[in-house]
Amino acid sequence: MRVLILGAGGQLATELGRVLRNEEVLALSHSQADICDADAIERQARPFRPDCLINTAAYHRVDDCEDEVERSFAVNAVALKGMCRVAGALGAVLVHFSTDYVFDGAQRHPYCETDVPNPLSIYAMSKLAGEQIVRRYAPRHFVVRTCGLYAPAGSRSKGGNFVETMLRLAREGRSIRVVNDQVTTPSSARDVARALIPLLRSDHYGLYHMTNAGSCSWFEFAQEIFRLAKLPAGVQPISSAEFRAKARRPAYSVLENAALREAGFPDLQPWQHALADYFRERAAD
Ligand SMILES: NC(=O)c1ccc[n+]([C@@H]2O[C@H](COP(=O)([O-])OP(=O)(O)OC[C@H]3O[C@@H](n4cnc5c(N)ncnc54)[C@H](OP(=O)(O)O)[C@@H]3O)[C@@H](O)[C@H]2O)c1
Repeated sequence: MRVLILGAGGQLATELGRVLRNEEVLALSHSQADICDADAIERQARPFRPDCLINTAAYHRVDDCEDEVERSFAVNAVALKGMCRVAGALGAVLVHFSTDYVFDGAQRHPYCETDVPNPLSIYAMSKLAGEQIVRRYAPRHFVVRTCGLYAPAGSRSKGGNFVETMLRLAREGRSIRVVNDQVTTPSSARDVARALIPLLRSDHYGLYHMTNAGSCSWFEFAQEIFRLAKLPAGVQPISSAEFRAKARRPAYSVLENAALREAGFPDLQPWQHALADYFRERAAD
């Protein structure tokens, strides 16, 4: 399989590069290829003849997106029309990542792929538009919604990952306040990358939810991080209203990996196990 990865240098792209190490991979970072310039990407991709084009690039500093509406839609939506054209011209399957934030969180049981999105923020609206473009214009696509990603590389755009941020704040002796009224599924980018590969080798095209199993609030996630790190951090639960983020986030955004299961693929491991794996690897480094 010949795989072109866009958004290289990001945490998910880095993990995809790892799990695809036995395949032929061309990974292009933002500075090498801007997804808003489809012609330039086609020029770079054509000699490589990819079977598959994976877009991990996004503009996803969620609060900044509220003020940067044009940039959000340019990167997260409009660029996807160009990616569909490039994938079509090269005869490649298009893989695109989206987010749990397409849902409004009013539901109190996990969201399936058939549930109707209702995004609460500019970021989420732009990501939903991007998904819809891919689903409409790329006949052979995998649109994969995931959530709460973390990996050793850390999110490039957000400047790290939640786990390392918690550990750093604890080391610095800072008071740590984490929202306890947003329930989600923190997901290991490594597990998501691993789960993508069998799907990629199949022709079960379509929309998928792909997260670790289970759910927790961000506060509960932080508690588990400190438990595994054996740190006596006094993390304080707060409400989203107290946190006063600019963008609204869903109070509940747990995703049911229903389509994956229906297509016969195994569930990802529980989030607690994935986090324990992360700590084991961290300790081994
Ligand atoms: N992180 C999460 O918690 C989370 C949750 C749900 C869904 N997702 C989705 O999962 C995907 C991967 O997320 P991630 O956490 O791996 O992100 P990440 O680490 O922040 O990586 C995103 C990459 O996209 C690049 N990029 C931004 N604008 C670009 C452009 N115009 N052209 C080319 N590259 C561009 C960034 O490069 P620069 O930094 O150099 O700009 C960065 O390398 C995204 O689609 C995101 O929306 C993430």
